[in-house]
Amino acid sequence: MTTRFTKEFLWGGATAANQLEGAFDRDGKGLSVADAMPGGKQRFAIIGSEDFDWTIDEEKYIYPNHRGIEHYDRFKEDIALFAEMNFKCYRFSIAWSRIFPQGDELTPNEAGLRFYDQLIDECLKYGIEPVITISHYEMPLNLAKKYGGWKNRELITFYERFAETVLTRYHEKVKYWMTFNEINSAFHFPALSQGLVKSNGAADYQNIFQAWHNQFVASSKAVKLAHELRSDIEVGCMIIYATTYSIDSNPVNQVATMVQNQEFNFFCTDVQVRGEYPAYTSRTYAKYGVDASLLEQAAEDFELLKQYPVDYIGFSYYMSSAVDEVSPEADTSIGNLLGGVKNPFLEASEWGWQIDPDGLRIALNELYNRYEKPLFIVENGLGAIDEVNPDGTIDDDYRIDYLRRHIDAMADAVADGVDLMGYTPWGCIDLVSASTGEMSKRYGFIYVDLDDNGVGTLNRSKKKSFDWYKDVIKTNGERV
Ligand code: BG6
Repeated sequence: MTTRFTKEFLWGGATAANQLEGAFDRDGKGLSVADAMPGGKQRFAIIGSEDFDWTIDEEKYIYPNHRGIEHYDRFKEDIALFAEMNFKCYRFSIAWSRIFPQGDELTPNEAGLRFYDQLIDECLKYGIEPVITISHYEMPLNLAKKYGGWKNRELITFYERFAETVLTRYHEKVKYWMTFNEINSAFHFPALSQGLVKSNGAADYQNIFQAWHNQFVASSKAVKLAHELRSDIEVGCMIIYATTYSIDSNPVNQVATMVQNQEFNFFCTDVQVRGEYPAYTSRTYAKYGVDASLLEQAAEDFELLKQYPVDYIGFSYYMSSAVDEVSPEADTSIGNLLGGVKNPFLEASEWGWQIDPDGLRIALNELYNRYEKPLFIVENGLGAIDEVNPDGTIDDDYRIDYLRRHIDAMADAVADGVDLMGYTPWGCIDLVSASTGEMSKRYGFIYVDLDDNGVGTLNRSKKKSFDWYKDVIKTNGERV
């Protein structure tokens, strides 16, 4: 019998330290950029304003990342629930500021390392393979404030020290790694991914591209280190991928779509997978006013990029995007995180993210045919408001429907010939939203009793999707 997925397929779930651990100031942890981000729908407007300088003002705002869902204290209970769902792997990140509280110390914080010893051991106890993102939207705040974030080349040294510390400590137990979460998101969220806000240079694309270069070099250094430590280790890049359509067959829109694909979907992977800057780099620099002669780039950087490309491509997929360059009446009201216009063929989530399972099949084919490297869907899911029934149950059929259709699209892509390693839906347990800091934007199979104002028991309970996903994994994706 032919099966839809290989027997080694990595089914699991994904989270990020800053969005669930809490304990933001415990056991020597320093502040991270995520700790300075207020909660609420205005989050991006606040951090994107001219005068935002990372000041934490608890009189004015709430900071949901400080408490997260208290996973730091409840990780054993949470991992037991993941194990009950038959997880084969669990993708989580290491909070950089737990290991190097200010980012520029020479020696790590042992208490922080011990926390991840325990977390990893807890996964392994159940046969769950840890998949670690080294840096997921949470660089130490000091690196953003004192050094100006990733535009500063010194960050390479600090990241290298961090990566070397965690790779050395955990490589025997952890085979799968990713260097940076959604590295290509800097056009949209420079604060999260590069530590850049307007007051330290985010408005100037010279800084964004300089920061990218520094991150590419840092990532290759991590790949090199990892391979020296363990020959079968696999280190991936990680991008946010939005399949991008032209709204119609107008060649003007088709060209704009091609350009958007290159700049947004492929620029970072072209460098990190192929090991060299793509042919369209000069055109892109010219468009964004980047002076290549002012970029700090050493000759040995390019050799490093060439010699140490990533082993696989991790990516998040939530939505597709549509491009309309010509119609003055184009509807851009859609709240798609990544911009674009409304696609009349698609429905959107309550947050305006356009739901498109076919777009996932296309994404998988586009990425695989371009690079021929294994792919790993390390985020996917539906952020929705869940209602708790009087008896405590939660009927999240909309989430099951979303995931089912995306898993079917994955199976179609595998039948198309795509090499797909695994699937870790986002926020397998409810956690703080990255774009809005809300708790009410829930993705989990596990409900966490906590509201947007930080009120709740933090009790965990199983949604209807919990048993559904458990069965999906049990049948290796044959029954969805
Ligand atoms: C991705 C991020 O962009 O999407 C996650 O890697 C994030 O950190 C996820 O949480 C979902 O986005 P949001 O804004 O709904 O939390």
